[in-house]
Amino acid sequence: MPIETTKNIWHNGQLIPWEKANIHVMSHVVHYGSSVFEGIRCYTQPGGAGIFRLNEHMQRLIHSAKIYRMPLPYSLEQLNAAVIDVVEANGVAPCYVRPIAFRGYGEIGVNPLKSPVEVYVANFPWGKYMPGNAGADVCVSSWSRLAPNTMPSLAKAGANYMNSQLIRMEAEVNGYAEGIALDTNGYLSEGSGENLFVIRGGTIYTAPLANSVLNGITRDSILVLARQMGIPVVEQAMPREMLYICDEAFFTGTAAEVTHLRSVDRIMVGDGTMGPITTALHKAFFNIVNGLAEDRYNWLTPVTVRETAAV
Ligand SMILES: Cc1ncc(COP(=O)(O)O)c(C=O)c1O
Repeated sequence: MPIETTKNIWHNGQLIPWEKANIHVMSHVVHYGSSVFEGIRCYTQPGGAGIFRLNEHMQRLIHSAKIYRMPLPYSLEQLNAAVIDVVEANGVAPCYVRPIAFRGYGEIGVNPLKSPVEVYVANFPWGKYMPGNAGADVCVSSWSRLAPNTMPSLAKAGANYMNSQLIRMEAEVNGYAEGIALDTNGYLSEGSGENLFVIRGGTIYTAPLANSVLNGITRDSILVLARQMGIPVVEQAMPREMLYICDEAFFTGTAAEVTHLRSVDRIMVGDGTMGPITTALHKAFFNIVNGLAEDRYNWLTPVTVRETAAV
């Protein structure tokens, strides 16, 4: 989907015009994929707007950078403030926020250590990533997720998304909304950009971090909500066929939010509609982000925006 531009982008401590946020073709990141990034949603609530789990997202960015020995010249507090600054300066909500840190123009060669670290934060209006409440028809991908001793999946690194692109493109050319990848041992891992939940006999299952998944912040939010609702939750390795015999299944992610799966490999999940547990979690999640229920976990950081976009 085309990017809707906004006015400013935060770069290394300053707001610069959107069209000036350019990099050189010989920047390290262009050749070797040396970036770490985040994707955050800012939601509107009656009378205001709030950024969803800002602190956790920026903490994950810091951890992603640490894994890749990329020193970020900003503290967690400064990075949080940068996001708030750019969202307030651009004045658009709801929106999607994209902080990114990468190795810029310095040296050529695989070793990134002598190339400077650049940090940018952009935001722009962005609507639904997955089809509405009709559910997604997905497939199991022929591509595996990253093996644990190749690329660290707990780092949200640009290079990981070459694997995601293969999964996503294969799904699309075969007529599916998304692909679910197995890990290199054949256990269920995650979608190209979403964590996966399966419900069977009243228990919620999701893959543990050891199955090559990103430590999703929406995944964590759903685990919190489910435990608070008293629904049993198990993080365990799952065989592929759990998808064919489960009662309900859904994806979570900043982009996908909470999206139920209607079918997997053309096999209907339950009766294809959003099942009762997914519905309860979906409602609890959206009630908080849309300001219809108390933000009891302090997940929303308030921001002052003038305009609200119809997304
Ligand atoms: C590969 C992958 N898994 C899971 C997720 C979900 O993570 P989150 O809920 O933090 O957006 C994402 C999205 O960022 C992702 O790209």
